[in-house]
Amino acid sequence: MSFRQSHLLGIEHLAPDEIVTLLDLAAEYAALNRSDRKHGDALDGLTQINMFFENSTRTQASFELAGKRLGADVMNMSMQASSIKKGETLIDTALSLNAMHPDLLVVRHPQSGAVDLLAQKVNCAVLNAGDGRHEHPTQALLDALTIRNAKGRLHRLSIAICGDIAHSRVARSNILLLGKMENRVRLVAPPTLLPAGIENFGVEVFHDMKAGLEDVDVVMMLRLQKERMDGGFIPSEREYYHRYGLDAEKLAHAKDDAIVMHPGPMNRGVEIDGTLADDINRSVIQDQVEMGVAVRMAAMDLLARNLRERRKEAAA
Ligand code: NCD
Repeated sequence: MSFRQSHLLGIEHLAPDEIVTLLDLAAEYAALNRSDRKHGDALDGLTQINMFFENSTRTQASFELAGKRLGADVMNMSMQASSIKKGETLIDTALSLNAMHPDLLVVRHPQSGAVDLLAQKVNCAVLNAGDGRHEHPTQALLDALTIRNAKGRLHRLSIAICGDIAHSRVARSNILLLGKMENRVRLVAPPTLLPAGIENFGVEVFHDMKAGLEDVDVVMMLRLQKERMDGGFIPSEREYYHRYGLDAEKLAHAKDDAIVMHPGPMNRGVEIDGTLADDINRSVIQDQVEMGVAVRMAAMDLLARNLRERRKEAAA
């Protein structure tokens, strides 16, 4: 089996063959999830703890469902904002949890790098469910599976990632994954919403939507992450929608069969036209949610296999 990781902290650490292994297994789980008996036993007997220090709807629900479908005992800990006062608090919490012998720890945290730090302190498999602006690996993987399903391949595609890239861990993980799989990635955003050091990302940058969408296969929209903005990044939401919001007119510049994606939660009428988001001929937003459960099942299954292997070796 070509998946050698102990944790899933970021796309940064994955090789292309590991990405393909994970997506192939996720495709099998997607089929299982459409059947009447949605149960596997890959995580039988294992304990999964979900620690979310930041709000989440889709990601937390799908990690929970994924664990339950594979037979894990799943516990959700909703961490209050007050418990994040210090970096020390996170480590202390982690060490206490570690004493309860979890096997899989799913963590979302507002600080970039917090999940990596935590992984060094515990002896179970850690999955990053989003850390600050850094990475959100399962989101990029579910996006990749959705693209592969819709386009029949995951290489030599032209993909535009549009909007608030500066604050987006989804964009970062997607840029890394799509680049590793040899696609052409374009970023479309106003200069204020592009991260520093963008010239090192191996992408093309556009400030105009119509030019940026010209002949692309995939249009990936991002939410304006107002909670991460501490000043005037955009003139007004109205003006932003006019220039960067995806509507039928701008989408007409992409290929005729281009798909529209969004990780959610969506601000309808800010970064995307609501009717377009619901158009089942163009939008694959619901497929993204569906693939999310399958990808998380695959990720936890693969990490659990490696965890059991390591424990067996340690005991021998
Ligand atoms: C994203 C996130 O939390 O980074 N949402 C998600 O996981 N589906 C994107 C966002 O918050 O805009």
